[in-house]
Amino acid sequence: MVDVSIRNVAAKDIRACYDIEVACFSAAEAASMAKIEKRAAIFPDGFLVAHASGRVIGFINSGATDQPDLADEEFKDMVGHDPNGKNIVILSIAVAPSYQGTGVSRPLMDRFIDRAKALGKQTILLLCREHVIGYYKKFGYQDAGVSASTHGGGQWHEMHLDL
Ligand SMILES: CC(C)(COP(=O)(O)OP(=O)(O)OC[C@H]1O[C@@H](n2cnc3c(N)ncnc32)[C@H](O)[C@@H]1OP(=O)(O)O)[C@@H](O)C(=O)NCCC(=O)NCCS
Repeated sequence: MVDVSIRNVAAKDIRACYDIEVACFSAAEAASMAKIEKRAAIFPDGFLVAHASGRVIGFINSGATDQPDLADEEFKDMVGHDPNGKNIVILSIAVAPSYQGTGVSRPLMDRFIDRAKALGKQTILLLCREHVIGYYKKFGYQDAGVSASTHGGGQWHEMHLDL
């Protein structure tokens, strides 16, 4: 079991988060460094990093909105983000490949859920590929079916957790 600490993102974490993002997602799916930087700058309370032994090993970032449209590509660039929105939308969750399967994402997701509640959010929303539906169900998320999103090609599922 890795000794993981969770905290809000800082400017110095951006490069490490980007490296994890590109290691975890295909080129068509991965967010650019600029997008990650923007998410951190605009909504740091919705961007948590996991670190161990002085390095970032995973993260979750998000935006908030009253009018969620998970198929909206622009929202990934924080267009339409409203910090007071009642829904919080996970844009990326990723753990460095060498740490996957070692329990790193559990404290990260638990803290994110606590944070969403502390921010007064009603629902956490996200898009995921079919092979990770079971992962989100472990945290209580429900599958709302296939999304209209065409992000990166292929099919996405919409998941939600009512808080
Ligand atoms: C998905 C991901 C975030 C999980 O993080 P992780 O640190 O490897 O997961 P953990 O080790 O904390 O596992 C937490 C629990 O989820 C389970 N789990 C992990 N991956 C799973 C999967 N694909 N399907 C079902 N359950 C899964 C674990 O068995 C564990 O269950 P337990 O606590 O009952 O033992 C990580 O594998 C990752 O970054 N993958 C690539 C990026 C990605 O696909 N992100 C999701 C975007 S939609």
